[in-house]
Amino acid sequence: MILIKNAIELQNLLAKQKRKAQKIGFVPTMGALHEGHISLITNSKSQNLLTVCSIFVNPTQFNDPLDFEKYPQTIESDILALEKAGTDLLFFPNQAQIYPMGLDQQPYYELGNLEKLLEGKYRPGHFQGVCQVVKRLLDLVSPDKLFLGQKDFQQCMVIQKLLTLQQSAIELVICPTLREASGLAMSSRNLRLSEEGKLKAALIYQTLQDLKAKLSIDSSIPQLLETSKLQLLNAGFNSIDYLQLVDPQSLEPITNWEPQTKAVLIIAAFLEGIRLIDNLPI
Ligand code: PAF
Repeated sequence: MILIKNAIELQNLLAKQKRKAQKIGFVPTMGALHEGHISLITNSKSQNLLTVCSIFVNPTQFNDPLDFEKYPQTIESDILALEKAGTDLLFFPNQAQIYPMGLDQQPYYELGNLEKLLEGKYRPGHFQGVCQVVKRLLDLVSPDKLFLGQKDFQQCMVIQKLLTLQQSAIELVICPTLREASGLAMSSRNLRLSEEGKLKAALIYQTLQDLKAKLSIDSSIPQLLETSKLQLLNAGFNSIDYLQLVDPQSLEPITNWEPQTKAVLIIAAFLEGIRLIDNLPI
């Protein structure tokens, strides 16, 4: 695996590959890699793409500076895992390589309601930050395909919107969420949970599955969602930012669900002070 820290070096090397008609698959990450990330690499590799991964903890997408400071950094083990997965190139830039003009004066993207609902409500500015870094990375890597995990469902919708706004030809490939045996969605944040917390966190997925099963027999959605929230709080969760049934494209809440309605159950909840998110398409 080639490791590059410099943006111009990266562009030069990838331009050479493109001249040889080599297609590129790109997996952007913030490091603290787990099997979920590796499955994105494996997916890209299985499509015979030159597979580029980036590791950059992007300050502009953190609305809580403490969360940014505490973000786990595990670069040595990340490199080993990427090498083992057959990654062709790792881009590991510093802040100046990503934001050469500084952090102020970033572009604004018209994301509409997608950045106001759910995560957007609780993390104002977060998706602008995500778009800023992803746009910069895509400009540098110029991939044919971009691989993202479905666990960050709203992020996938936002980045799809960014690609549409930019009239980009890059194909977004959304890969399934990888889970622990308990059902807990794999996430870099799980590293901050205690062993007991990890067991309790599995209740999130159990709740989503339970709700999915109940939806077909009981259509009083607000009541079902409220009962589930209470159950999680009683089980020891600190708070629930949201638990909603939403339209998969617009992310607007669905109040009248029928079996043929496409929908996603989506949740953000705090446990042991750690914010965990998950979702389940219906
Ligand atoms: O999902 C993430 O890890 C980040 O939001 C991303 C897409 C790498 C942008 O910083």
